[in-house]
Amino acid sequence: MIADKKKAEKIIKKMFEQKIEDNNLFLFSGDLGTGKTTLISSIITELTGERYVNSPTYTIVNTYNWEDREIFHVDLYRLETIEDILELGIFEDVEQESIFFVEWPDDFMGFFKQWKHVMINLDKTDKEDEREIMIDEYSLY
Ligand SMILES: Nc1ncnc2c1ncn2[C@@H]1O[C@H](COP(=O)(O)OP(=O)(O)OP(=O)(O)O)[C@@H](O)[C@H]1O
Ligand SMILES: [Mg+2]
Repeated sequence: MIADKKKAEKIIKKMFEQKIEDNNLFLFSGDLGTGKTTLISSIITELTGERYVNSPTYTIVNTYNWEDREIFHVDLYRLETIEDILELGIFEDVEQESIFFVEWPDDFMGFFKQWKHVMINLDKTDKEDEREIMIDEYSLY
């Protein structure tokens, strides 16, 4: 799917309303500056009504509340090992109700593929204000 920012927000909103019913682990892959944070921010704003959503570039994890569930927005860019990830102490909750939006999962797919997940891939196109977004669902069998 090709989308400019506004269109992407609309499409994604519709899609996430459905997908979030039976998925809670969303992995956002894509080169530097392809729009991972922007997309996740608009999803979180859409869900929680919170107007301003910060990038977790420095905090690594930002936590939000939605209904009675927690949402974790995670940026793994600066982490190096699985131990770093486990130290965050949040991924135990994948099997609970919590919802995860993860940037830079790519080096850790061996870890993430133990769970059912949705992979969102962002790419730049030759137009400055446009992105290609690909979404695939992976179940365990
Ligand atoms: N769908 C889109 N269409 C056009 N421009 C976009 C889109 N999404 C984001 N951008 C722009 O791309 C730039 C980078 O966005 P963003 O920080 O969300 O990317 P990122 O993938 O999270 O980057 P990083 O790799 O540093 O984490 C911003 O200037 C943003 O406005
Ligand atoms: Mg980002």
